[in-house]
Amino acid sequence: RKEHRDELYRVNQLAAKFFHNCLTQTEMGKPGLEYLQSRGLSKETIERFQLGFAPNNWDKLFRSFHERGIDERILIECGLCRKNDTGRIYDYFRNRVMFPICDGKGRVVAFGGRVLDDSTPKYLNSPEYELFNKGHMLFAFDKAYRTIREKKQVILVEGYMDVIGAHNRGVTNVVASLGTAYTKDQGRLLIRQAEEVVLAYDMDTAGQKAARRAIELLQDTEFKVRVVAMPDGKDPDDYVRNHGPEAFLELVAKAVSPFEFYLNSALISHDSNTAKGKEAILEEVFPLISVTSNQIERENYLKALALPLWLDNSTIYRMFRQYLTKGD
Ligand code: GTP
Ligand code: MN
Ligand code: MN
Ligand code: MN
Ligand code: MN
Repeated sequence: RKEHRDELYRVNQLAAKFFHNCLTQTEMGKPGLEYLQSRGLSKETIERFQLGFAPNNWDKLFRSFHERGIDERILIECGLCRKNDTGRIYDYFRNRVMFPICDGKGRVVAFGGRVLDDSTPKYLNSPEYELFNKGHMLFAFDKAYRTIREKKQVILVEGYMDVIGAHNRGVTNVVASLGTAYTKDQGRLLIRQAEEVVLAYDMDTAGQKAARRAIELLQDTEFKVRVVAMPDGKDPDDYVRNHGPEAFLELVAKAVSPFEFYLNSALISHDSNTAKGKEAILEEVFPLISVTSNQIERENYLKALALPLWLDNSTIYRMFRQYLTKGD
């Protein structure tokens, strides 16, 4: 099966080249190139990430690869092509800017493709198959690896453009977990490279929810975890583009601990002066405390709630115990 895997790698590499060539060398690719330039990406970034464009055509890639003698089954297997009910084969990615997804060794194994306007779905991703398991990879890990090691720090973001936008401005210890939530397997990739994981997720509801999931998975690991809050802008890409890399790195430097993150956001969304509000705040903070197995740390968290909520320690402890038994 090694030959088969090699063939899958080869076809993906060829596809990346096909899309990249289309973007940079053809008239068809112009809208894609203009789109990426309008988002502030330099020629160097487009080259480094081998960005591409999938032409607005039903089967351009298929026909070109067919002429080279590449078997349609392999194109279908890695998700580049599909077969419709009448047996016709067509390209899965059409009229999209293309982001090659590489494994840790820099080999292309999949793609993400973005529309140029606000039609939906905004992003398409290659389906999972032999070479591509989303939960096991981090987007741009191959390109961020060296800096992560040097800085002992990784900045984890949500989207392709957040990664590319940051690298584009020289912040190169940034990777993304590909639309899916952070997983423990991704942590394994990072464990020997980084001491600290800084989460810089979108400021929208989905992003903040994903940040919580990541924190809870990271809570009892070796990593030191901190969370970035972006005062304006929706995501790191917006922020870096509007304020520059230094300002973004300042936010990273000011990133807060998971506990502060939970408490701050709960204090913003509820009124700590009312009984109902206090209860709601505790409900938001308890999940973090409950995944903390270190007893001293737990104590410290619970104690730290007394002052902002104007509650007795004993009340907080009692409510926490109630919360724990409710979870069972
Ligand atoms: P831009 O709009 O290009 O800046 O992308 P974004 O990364 O800011 O998008 P968003 O915050 O909406 O989503 C974050 C990440 O979730 C994206 O980078 C994708 O990986 C994923 N995602 C967003 N929309 C879709 C979608 O329609 N389908 C799939 N499969 N994934 C999506
Ligand atoms: Mn090139
Ligand atoms: Mn978002
Ligand atoms: Mn964005
Ligand atoms: Mn976003």
